[in-house]
Amino acid sequence: MSARKLTPGRLVIASHNQGKVREIRELLEPYGIEPVSAGELDLPEPEETGTTFAENALLKARASAEGANCVALADDSGLCVAALNDAPGVYTADWAEKAAFEGGPGRDWYMAMGKVEGKLAELGPDTDRSSYFTCTLALAWPDGHHEIFEGRVHGSLTWPPRGTLGFGYDPVFVPEGRDQTFAELDPAQKHAMSHRADAFAKLVAACL
Ligand code: IMP
Repeated sequence: MSARKLTPGRLVIASHNQGKVREIRELLEPYGIEPVSAGELDLPEPEETGTTFAENALLKARASAEGANCVALADDSGLCVAALNDAPGVYTADWAEKAAFEGGPGRDWYMAMGKVEGKLAELGPDTDRSSYFTCTLALAWPDGHHEIFEGRVHGSLTWPPRGTLGFGYDPVFVPEGRDQTFAELDPAQKHAMSHRADAFAKLVAACL
């Protein structure tokens, strides 16, 4: 069965993550869609109780589609490190949560990158540093219909972090075939190869 088409007009970006909202807006720009973020509409952020990227993406998209009575797009993404059995995976954002003694609540991406590096270091200097970012996009309509798309970008982890662009774990991720980290590439270069762009290309092909 073919996917349901998106029509021009309002679409809620079901995310409170500024980095993701900015990238999704940039990816949607050419398609006559009017993106508005869940934060701008004061929609609550549902708890991510799923155990897969698809479950979490869908629960965020459904919450915004119902809350705003309009089609919503959510992204659930993460970093999967081969030597760590694909951790942090669905828990990528959780690894950045600061405990009270670390000044939390709040997220610290440098601390999270350090945790990943610490676990790799425990495995020894010759440990495989390959990893991938994955992105699952869920589109949900207020009548309950949904569509799901997944994208990936493969690369390896570097240390120490480099670059100031992008967000999250970008400063330690070097995509395959490049020397720079995602945080050293300008946004157009990242969009040409990222996991989000890959998932987005599939969404565009099916729904736009
Ligand atoms: P969630 O999808 O809200 O559970 O969060 C996933 C986390 O993965 C984000 O908060 C980022 O830290 C990380 N992440 C996802 N996509 C990217 C990316 O493009 N660059 C860097 N980090 C990312």
